[in-house]
Amino acid sequence: MTESIPVRIFPDRTEASRTLALELAALIRTINESGRPAVLGLATGRTPLPFYGELIRLHREGQLSFAKVITFNLDEYLGLPGNHPESYRAFMRRELFDHVDIPAENLNIPDGMVPPEALEAHCAAYEELIRAAGGIDFQLLGIGRTGHIGFNEPGSPRGSRTRKVELDPITRQDAAPAFGGLENVPEYAISMGCGTILEARRIALLAWGAAKADIVKEALTGPVTDQVSASFLQEHQDATFYLDAEAGSKL
Ligand code: GLP
Repeated sequence: MTESIPVRIFPDRTEASRTLALELAALIRTINESGRPAVLGLATGRTPLPFYGELIRLHREGQLSFAKVITFNLDEYLGLPGNHPESYRAFMRRELFDHVDIPAENLNIPDGMVPPEALEAHCAAYEELIRAAGGIDFQLLGIGRTGHIGFNEPGSPRGSRTRKVELDPITRQDAAPAFGGLENVPEYAISMGCGTILEARRIALLAWGAAKADIVKEALTGPVTDQVSASFLQEHQDATFYLDAEAGSKL
């Protein structure tokens, strides 16, 4: 193994999620005790579900408050209103926000319904909001089969910022079942850029299952290349991969 990113392999996703949830709860407490809100970068997809479940559990047990937490989601499909069940705004409400004490004004997700002429300004304003919040303390990531983080498909430059992106055919295919067919999957999204993500002070990438084993290996041990945007994490000071046994089986 030649990878430079710390890798933690757990027997299963529940244990990995539980460990990271406890670590994040401690980080939020430490930052809050220093007198400022904690700024989180959040991800969607199937991967973070057990992790969000653990955060909700900690909140219900009185061990974690989101009262002083500000969140920025990585991405959103273009053309989907926030009340569309497959929009990332609806996803976040359903899977996390509706179950914890986070103030509504602290949630930030790109607007999938922004008109084309306002798109560039919307993306610039998103970057500015992140800067104004003091930057991201903790960024959660999944990984797509194309090696993408957020929706930074192959060819996304290392320095890219929040912008409109075209979804890779593989990514659209993976999303097709949830949308009830490929023809319903949006072709474009707004995504934080690789540069935006890499500025987070701490990054945790989660991956579960055998289907992710090859791309996890590629990201960790392959060349640092814009063809696999997760490989840029090799150059980050504090990025860790949290894997279950299957996702780590090719290492
Ligand atoms: C989408 C999201 C990514 C996510 C990826 C993997 O493309 N934009 O943030 O990491 O899907 O999805 P899953 O976790 O469902 O495998």
